[in-house]
This record gives sequence, C-alpha cells and structure tokens, in this order.
Amino acid sequence: MGQTLTEKILDDHLVEGELEPGEEIGIEIDQVLTQDTTGTMVWLQFEALGLEEQQTELAAQYCDHQTYQFDFKNTDDHRFLRSAAGTYGAHFSRPGNGICHNVHKENFAAPGKTLLGSDSHTPTPGGLGELAIGAGGLDIAVAMGGGAYYVEMPEVVNVRLEGELQDWASAKDVILEMLRRLSVKGGVGKVFEYTGPGAESLSVPERTTITNMGTELGATSSIFETDEKTKDYLERQNRGEEYVELKADEDAEYADEVVIDLSEIEPLIAQPSMPDNVVPVRDVAGTEVDQVIVGSCTNGGYEDVLPAAKMVKGREVAKSTDLIVAPGSKQAGELLAREGWTAEMMAAGVNVSEATCGPCIGIGHVPASDSVSVRTFNRNFEGRSGIEDDSVFLSSPQVAAAAALKGEIVDPRDLQDELDDLDAPGVELPDKYDASKADLIAPDEAIDDELIKGPNIGEVPLKDPIQANIDGEAILKMGDNITTDHIIPATSDILKFRSNIERLSEFTLSRVDESFATRAKEADGGFLVAGENYGQGSSREHAAMCPMYLGIEGVLAQSFARIHKANLFNFGIVPLAIDEETYEKIEQGDDVAIVDDVAEGVESGQEEFTVRINDDWEATATLDASERERRILTAGGKLSLTKQQYEEE
Ligand code: F3S
Repeated sequence: MGQTLTEKILDDHLVEGELEPGEEIGIEIDQVLTQDTTGTMVWLQFEALGLEEQQTELAAQYCDHQTYQFDFKNTDDHRFLRSAAGTYGAHFSRPGNGICHNVHKENFAAPGKTLLGSDSHTPTPGGLGELAIGAGGLDIAVAMGGGAYYVEMPEVVNVRLEGELQDWASAKDVILEMLRRLSVKGGVGKVFEYTGPGAESLSVPERTTITNMGTELGATSSIFETDEKTKDYLERQNRGEEYVELKADEDAEYADEVVIDLSEIEPLIAQPSMPDNVVPVRDVAGTEVDQVIVGSCTNGGYEDVLPAAKMVKGREVAKSTDLIVAPGSKQAGELLAREGWTAEMMAAGVNVSEATCGPCIGIGHVPASDSVSVRTFNRNFEGRSGIEDDSVFLSSPQVAAAAALKGEIVDPRDLQDELDDLDAPGVELPDKYDASKADLIAPDEAIDDELIKGPNIGEVPLKDPIQANIDGEAILKMGDNITTDHIIPATSDILKFRSNIERLSEFTLSRVDESFATRAKEADGGFLVAGENYGQGSSREHAAMCPMYLGIEGVLAQSFARIHKANLFNFGIVPLAIDEETYEKIEQGDDVAIVDDVAEGVESGQEEFTVRINDDWEATATLDASERERRILTAGGKLSLTKQQYEEE
C-alpha cells in the first residue's frame, strides 16, 4: 500500500514506534522555532539541561508577540533571547522583523523537513511541504538537545480541492469553510493533506493561509504536496535549490476525505467569538464596523496586504472606521514600501503599523468598549483582543478592506456593484522577494556568547516525583472550551512576567475567577474541573506551568486539547478524563481524593482510577497516557526526567 505525504515525511524521520494512527511515535526534528513569549522559558529549560550547543539543523528565535517596549522587562527579555541564540547557536530575529511564521516561511521553511515550534500556528510552512507541528516550549528545549519529539500518530485526512476560486473568494474563505463544516474540534488527532487540481491552483502564500489556520480545527498539522508553484516561490525567495518534489503515492490510503469545490466558495466571515462561527458575509452585511485590522500570521504577507492596498488606493477609509495594517514581516513591509503601496495606504487613511503579532493578543489597537472589529486574524476568542465582551469578526483581507471603505460589513461583490471602478484584486507575488536581512542575526554573526539575564528573568520551577496519595479541593469548576488564554491571558500587562513564574502565576485563571490564584495557594494543592476541550488555543506552556506552581495536582475534564494535555504531562499534572455525569455532579469546593496509589498506578500502566468525592460518592476517571508520558508524570515532569537522563548518560 502506498503512503500519504505525511507518512513519507514521518517515515523518513521515525526513531521510535510505528505509523499506526493513535500509536505514539518519536520523530527526529530538523528545525525548531520559538518566539518571545515562549522562548525565554525554552532557553532557561535548555540551560537547565546543561548542554553547550543546540543540536538541530536550524534553530530560530523570533521576537514578535510583544515587541512594544512598555518598560525594561520586554527589552530585557529580548536581550536575553539574543544572548541565548548567540550562546547556543540559533538564528535571532530582532523585534520588528516580523511574526515567527511569516519570517520562517520566507527564510527557512523547506519541503520534506520536520519543524517543531513553541507556537500553535507552527504548521504554517505546511504550505511549502514541510511537516510542522506546534508543541510546548519544553519539547523544543529537548529537541534542541537532540532528543526526539513524541506525538500520537495522527490520522491523515485528504482534503481534495476541485475547481478554482472565483473573484473575491480567497484562501481564507477555504479554511473558514473547513471550520464551518468541521468545527474547532474537527481536526483533533489529524493531519489535513490538501491535494487535487484546486490545491495546484493556489500559490504558496494562499496555501500557508490554509495550513496556518488548520490549527483552529485542532489539527496536528496541515500540508500541501510540492509542485511548480512551490519551486517558483522558493526561487522568488532566492532559495530555489531547496526545492524537493513531494507527493503522496497514487495508491495512498487516507483515513477520511473532505471535498471542496473552490468555484463554489463565497466570501465568508467568522462571527464573535469562535473561529468556527462562520457564515456568508452577506448574512451579517450592514453591521457597523469601528475598527478593521489587516495582518497577523494568517493574512499578513505581502500577498495579503497588497489586495487591501489596491482596494483602498485612490479612495478613503470611512470616517467612522479605523483601518490598521500591520504587515506580518519586515520583508512584506519593505516590499510594499518600495513599490509605493505604503504611501497609497497612508493617503487613504490607513494607520500602517510595525510588523508584530501585537493586536492579535490584545497588545496595541485594543477595540473600544462595545465596538465591532473586523480582523484578518485566525482567532477571535472572547477577550483576546484585550477587552472583555469584545465583538471580533474574522475575514479575508478583501472583506476587511471592503468593511473599512464602507464602514460596515459588506460582501465585496455588492461593494463592487456600488463602486463602478472597484476590481477584484486577486493574489499577486512580487518578481523577487528582494528585501534586507538586516534584522536576522545568523549564528556565525552572534553578538553574545553568554546569557544576559535581567531582574525579571526568574528560575525554572521543578516539581517533586509523583506522590502515592493525591487529594485536595476542586478549586475551580469551569465549562467547555476553556482556552489557554483563559488560563494565562496573553495581554501585555500579564505577559511581561512570562519569565518570572512566581509573579505570572498570580494571574492564573483570573479571567474565570479573580480569586483563583489566592485560593489555590491557600488550598495548597488540589484539582481543576472542566468540560470538553480543556486547554484549546495557543501552545502556551505557562498555562500548565503556573497551575503546577500553584500546587494543582490534577485536572478532571471531559476532554483535553492535544498540546495542552502534553503540557500537563510535561509539568507533572495528571490529566484525568471524566464522563458527563461525573462532570455535572461534581461541585466547586468538593473534596476530591484519588483512592488508588497514584504513583504505582501511573508507573504500572493503570488506566482507570477511582475518584472519591466528599467521602460520599465515587466515579471513574481515565488516564490516557503512553508509557513515555507515564515516565514523565512519575518523575514530576519532563524537565526533571530529561535532566535525570542526561545525568545518567
Ligand atoms: Fe502571532 Fe496571532 Fe499568529 S499572536 S503567531 S499573529 S496567532
């Protein structure tokens, strides 16, 4: 039987296990990336392992999430990251050079390689045939130490694209259609492999918009086969020699198939406050819009900003609406500036911003209270924009620019009927992506050869080996779809403590219950209770590290999001699955005790544990963990285990 493209790349990198869906496999990692909010901890963890050089083919440290320097803490972090990249042999991308996924795509992503990144949208370079997976920072530190990355072998689903996109429909609408059909849980445990004539019709930047936002489906990764379009893109980036032709075998068997006819796709929009709350733009036309932002790792490329620039050229943004354009990378920004598009946008009333994640996580351009914002981003979870009860819509750059011109949501096809000289802008690549690399510092240009730690860089917390008896209070009961943003908000006032766990942990779950951190400390250990899909969203490992620091021993949830569940293991917190009845019955404040000897049970492979509540009733909780995850839990977390292993070698 033939192999899918995903299986071929995994097979080439396999160091442990078999390619059977659901089985845990270990793979060799060629490239790693990390960004500023996760990177400080990655390097502190790498330092704790006691190695001298990072061991992968290529490691890259980006500064993109929090690039505005409100006080010394961010600047100190950036200096620490530069010193760590220099000391251990990684590329360093300066603040302002752009978003990790955009800059990585432009400079380093290559077909057939494996990439592990401490950011949930790491799968972006799947559009170039790279198998890229988002993981916790600790996994990155271990990969940089030469260790394998362990993941459940995903099911490979074929997304067959037929036909071609019509005017005003875009790659963003294709992934919004996937979300409309499959929901934010539809990709869990899966890799989406895009094939067919429709896939061939899309340029690499359009493909990377789709692979980027596959993360919102919960997918392990998304990937396209490589072809002339991939080769052409790499040549335009002056990296033609890195092209490799990669296809699935003709007789490859997929776990499932989704068929989308691109010619039937129309402009779509995700309504507040979930990326799968998708409707045709026409259904919400007329909604007044206060703010529009074009940018992010999904739609911040040259090819994304250019259509918006063409649409506003020679016109004016509606007086009632602010239009902000933040290119995803300095390369995109420089090309747009050289070609005169930045001036055209400024003349039209656009606020042109620096290349940063910024507003995507509520840092800068926070919407006004009780206002509507239309963004080309990938996430619109409630409060993520920096204000509670926000109203954020997600769309393509074309739909966003149309809303900015009209001051209200409008199907761009209807706007075209109103404005006689408005043409569908299409997608256009520059002849060459010839832009400066002044903001990328290669390992052989390193400025520092030792770590520089400012006062806000703390210690890495370590946990003791797992105990036989685990009991405590159900300190907080939450609902479904709790995101890592709920657990540790990524806003600037909080994220500035990302390298200082003692301080950062004070904000744990403050969005759900302001008193949580204080109560957790007072209770001195205990449990969290949640509904379905606990920990969805970003890969932020602080969302496991801070609860661990506060003494949380276990999470009882109906189901867990993949990356967060791995992070719970990595920080020694036991993730136990409970059924709906138990979830409904258990109350916040209940006394919870695991009846079995937990240390022995975890080590021996026990799957079902008895949980006793208030000494009154009992329920069964399931631990779904591989042998390796059990070893990690037993040691008190992955850092403790890896340290033990290096010390033994
Ligand atoms: Fe940055 Fe938002 Fe992407 S935070 S990495 S632009 S999802």
